Amino acid sequence: MRQLAAESGTPAYLVGGPVRDALLGARLSDLDFAVVGDAPALARRLAARLGCGSRLTAHPRFGTATVAFTADGIDGHIDLVTARRESYPRPGQLPRVTPGSIADDLARRDFSINAMALPLTPGDGELLDPQEGLADLEAGVVRILHPRSFADDPTRLLRAVRYEQRFGFRIDPATRAAMAVAVSDGYMDAVSGDRWRRELERILDEANPSAPMRRAAELGLLAGLHPALGRGHPGRYADPGQPTPDECLAALFAPLSTGEAEQVIGRLRLSGRWAALARDTIELRDGEPQIRAVAGRPSALARLLAGREPGAVAAWAGLTADPAVAAALRRYLDELRFVRPELDGAALLAMGAPQGPAVGEILSRLRDARLDGAVTGADGELALARSLLAGGVNFGPGIAAPR
Ligand code: CTP
Repeated sequence: MRQLAAESGTPAYLVGGPVRDALLGARLSDLDFAVVGDAPALARRLAARLGCGSRLTAHPRFGTATVAFTADGIDGHIDLVTARRESYPRPGQLPRVTPGSIADDLARRDFSINAMALPLTPGDGELLDPQEGLADLEAGVVRILHPRSFADDPTRLLRAVRYEQRFGFRIDPATRAAMAVAVSDGYMDAVSGDRWRRELERILDEANPSAPMRRAAELGLLAGLHPALGRGHPGRYADPGQPTPDECLAALFAPLSTGEAEQVIGRLRLSGRWAALARDTIELRDGEPQIRAVAGRPSALARLLAGREPGAVAAWAGLTADPAVAAALRRYLDELRFVRPELDGAALLAMGAPQGPAVGEILSRLRDARLDGAVTGADGELALARSLLAGGVNFGPGIAAPR
């Protein structure tokens, strides 16, 4: 990168996270560069230099580009951005961007600890630190660069707690005050669900996600996302041991009604696994009496929990106040959900079972019998299958099959 920048006469700087992490002696993940010039053009040259294993994604309109590569079996990213000045026509909306100097680029950033740059081109001197990020890094402080920072970009509210908790820092008092104002003035409402969800994902990706979740609850940020998320004690993220990301998400939804949960799912545009996790957490919570009732009957327990998101079952096992429910859920997860009969459909057809729903019904009876210990081994299953078939069991609609 240094060579390329020098060759093309484009001033380039390592900026933001990697500078912060290098100064902290932390492991570097992805590299971010700001260039005073055409970042996508430089990225194209970088990708060519790195060779055929690299992949370039460029957004010339936004002056940004990413070069993805694999080295020694490890995937890495290099982000390049054209140094810019940003203005926010409306709070919470994306900024208007114009090319700028490296000082402009540092001044547009979220926190002082993320606003340092290391010049790559010779002769450009040492660390650039116009926002006094190094002093904050040494003092362990998260500090915004100007009072309107959170109004401009309210996603910084969650970023502040993420950095504070990751590094064991403190949010500076004036920054705290600005956070409170941004929340009470309703700026969080201006940000799209997709952007909030991405910030939440980044919190859940942290090594210990419960710390920033607890802090976000404490500072009223979760309530700012949706009023119902403010209910419940922040201590719910303080389980002994380190709660998993799934447990943190489940804890977020655990105090909600079904209707509130649907509102939050809609607000954050949750889909797929996360939406299932949210919904199943609530159903497991409300289904505790049924879980308790069937806890001693493995086949009934397995039927009750079939199709639930396993992450939600595991999370609820960690969150429930009832040890009997926790034990039943763990038994389902560790053991019951994997139980299958040894006989399969083909074996049943070979035994003379009629093609159609009867096969599935017999298989599920065999599974139940195995789960409840009523049969063991292939011989037991064969005997049961024979008796079900010989009993002239009609599995058609309206005719009860033998229990
Ligand atoms: N940034 C910002 N405001 C945001 C998001 C990002 O000012 N809302 C700036 C910060 O300077 C940040 C840089 O863009 O350092 C890159 O953002 P990102 O990749 O999100 O963060 P990193 O600092 O790389 O942190 P992390 O360790 O979480 O990856």
